[in-house]
Amino acid sequence: MRREILIVAGILAGGLCLTTNHCLSADSTGGKKPITAGFSQIGAESAWRTAETESIRSEAARRGVNLKFSDAQQKQENQIKALGAFIAQRVDAIILAPKVEDGWGPILKQAKAARIPVVLVDRGVNVSDESLYTTLIASDFVAEGRMAGQWLAKKLDGKGSIVELQGTTGAAPAIDRKKGFEEALRNYPDMKITKSQSGDFNRAGGKQVMEAFLKASQGSDTKIDAVYAHNDDMALGAVQAIEEAGLKPGSDIVVVSIDGVKGAFEAMVAGKLNCSVECNPLLGPAAFDAVEAVLAGKPVPKKTIVKDRLFDQSIAKDSIATRQY
Ligand code: AHR
Repeated sequence: MRREILIVAGILAGGLCLTTNHCLSADSTGGKKPITAGFSQIGAESAWRTAETESIRSEAARRGVNLKFSDAQQKQENQIKALGAFIAQRVDAIILAPKVEDGWGPILKQAKAARIPVVLVDRGVNVSDESLYTTLIASDFVAEGRMAGQWLAKKLDGKGSIVELQGTTGAAPAIDRKKGFEEALRNYPDMKITKSQSGDFNRAGGKQVMEAFLKASQGSDTKIDAVYAHNDDMALGAVQAIEEAGLKPGSDIVVVSIDGVKGAFEAMVAGKLNCSVECNPLLGPAAFDAVEAVLAGKPVPKKTIVKDRLFDQSIAKDSIATRQY
């Protein structure tokens, strides 16, 4: 049976350590040597992603883990190659932030055959055999989308036309944040998503798609009341597009997004973004807790859900100073 635990953001940020400074694994002679872990990261598409990379790198350094880092430059095939290289190098454990959900079965089978545990961080995978990975540490993306939708319904009094900037096609947060948001809107028949397109989780993509949405709305009967962006970087790109179109983001068009990065807080304080649902990227401590535990033969939960909060303009100013990313 699946065991799930909840970790509050504060515990994650502070580091829920099972052991102290040095992570060790047993060598073939029974002696102890520092752990070597491979980390395959998607890329650097957003401020969130950079914060996650930094959290994993700094936690590895803090614990004396020898970390092999690979930046896939947004390509799943590069991630698969990186995992192949980690397996060939016989690392003790692999940490994987998978770009998309599908297509991981064969490489994860190779890792399992080599007895290398795989810790998934941030995004999940679609595999028929869940024993192919050890654990997943991630936010509940459906809940994030739902929170954004409920907040927006309240803000718009249950009536309005919404454009949606989706994340990377096939990625767990894009699929689930859409699902959660639509779920929330089901209770509000007068709230409609009139356009929806991927901006690939980056600022340039969000700006470009929003420009196209604004252009299409000119001269049409459907005015855009709100933008729902699957992450802050796309929302900040949309804010720029709205301003360049001569409109006021945050008042002419309501902007709601997900991540809770510093840039979003600054935009909320400036009145240009209305709400951001937090998605905590500080996954390093929990990831290495899992690595250490599994290498020590201790049980680890199949899934750890990171708990997130919602921030809107009413609390942004008071919270900005304490934001860690
Ligand atoms: O998987 C988490 C998402 O990926 C974050 O919301 C986004 O900013 C990132 O690129």
